[in-house]
Amino acid sequence: MKRILSGIQSSGTPHLGNYLGAMKNHIEMQDGFETIIFIADLHALTTVRNPEKMRQMTQEIAVDYLALGLNPEKTIFFRQSEVPEHSELAWIFSCITPMGLLERAHAYKDAVAKGMKDSTAGLFTYPVLMAADILLYNPDLVPVGKDQKQHVEIARDIAEKFNSTFGETFKLPAPHIPDDTGYVIGTDGEHKMSKSYGNVINFFAPEPELKKQVMGVKTDSTPLEEPKDPKTCAVFKLYSHFASNAELADLENKYRTGGFGYGEAKKILFQKLLDEFGPYRQKRIELMNDLGYVEQVLKKGAIKARKETQKVMADVKKLTGLNFK
Ligand code: ADP
Ligand code: TRP
Repeated sequence: MKRILSGIQSSGTPHLGNYLGAMKNHIEMQDGFETIIFIADLHALTTVRNPEKMRQMTQEIAVDYLALGLNPEKTIFFRQSEVPEHSELAWIFSCITPMGLLERAHAYKDAVAKGMKDSTAGLFTYPVLMAADILLYNPDLVPVGKDQKQHVEIARDIAEKFNSTFGETFKLPAPHIPDDTGYVIGTDGEHKMSKSYGNVINFFAPEPELKKQVMGVKTDSTPLEEPKDPKTCAVFKLYSHFASNAELADLENKYRTGGFGYGEAKKILFQKLLDEFGPYRQKRIELMNDLGYVEQVLKKGAIKARKETQKVMADVKKLTGLNFK
């Protein structure tokens, strides 16, 4: 069986972009692959500076995954910070990673371009930790959204560099990007949906808040009676991820005929989201009342993960001369 590995940062409440670009895909893949999923709390530390918030968000994302159907019997599921080999290997990698490779990373370049004043070494070396996350488990595929493709490529470069310097150790991982959901548009109708743009729909938000987010999707000012172009409308694009072909054709027809306002389209989208997430929302409530179970899942997951990582680290230490009898 092929192995997949992916991580998700616990730096905010998950949104439809995370769901369609990552979480849903991870959960579907657990049936056909040996699956490893972790919560990247060490990566979240590049932006989160409040310990209470850190703990709470990490726990909530675990709850979200379990509510959406992650099966801890099948999938190794854990918190990155509870497997110390991630940080350890990241340091070793940072000693062989050329600065130029990191200077070209989009996430860092974007943060600088957005005028991030308090840039940190952690943000700069973010892809190095991510390379350690990946290579510790020798996965065949790394399912991520489009925006993470470059980071997986950097992990390949680091693997090659390590192999050529110290000896063949790591398998080169390949990114796996879902075809039609690799890019989810934000509620501003302009950027990709992202916590950092504040243009998100949080599918597990309480109903009134969910409604507010959906009703707030930005649309153009075509008057109600006139025909509208579904292809350029964020409401339509978001709906397309969940609707059947027939439902989509029906909505497209309403747009093109005219006499149909964006408010109506948003109500249809809102109902669709309630239908899609209804059962998961219920499961989530149950899990929030049983956090002891969630903790236990993560602790067991970390033990399973360390069985893998300790083997790899023993090899790495031998090859680099960091092992002592
Ligand atoms: P954010 O941009 O909100 O900070 P993250 O960077 O934490 O999200 O992304 C977590 C996962 O979700 C990654 O695999 C990423 O590629 C995916 N993802 C995030 N936003 C989107 C989006 N708008 N469309 C598709 N996938 C996304
Ligand atoms: N950087 C990824 C994101 O923001 C999260 C992540 C951390 C990850 N380590 C990883 C994803 C390893 C895949 C593999 O979404």
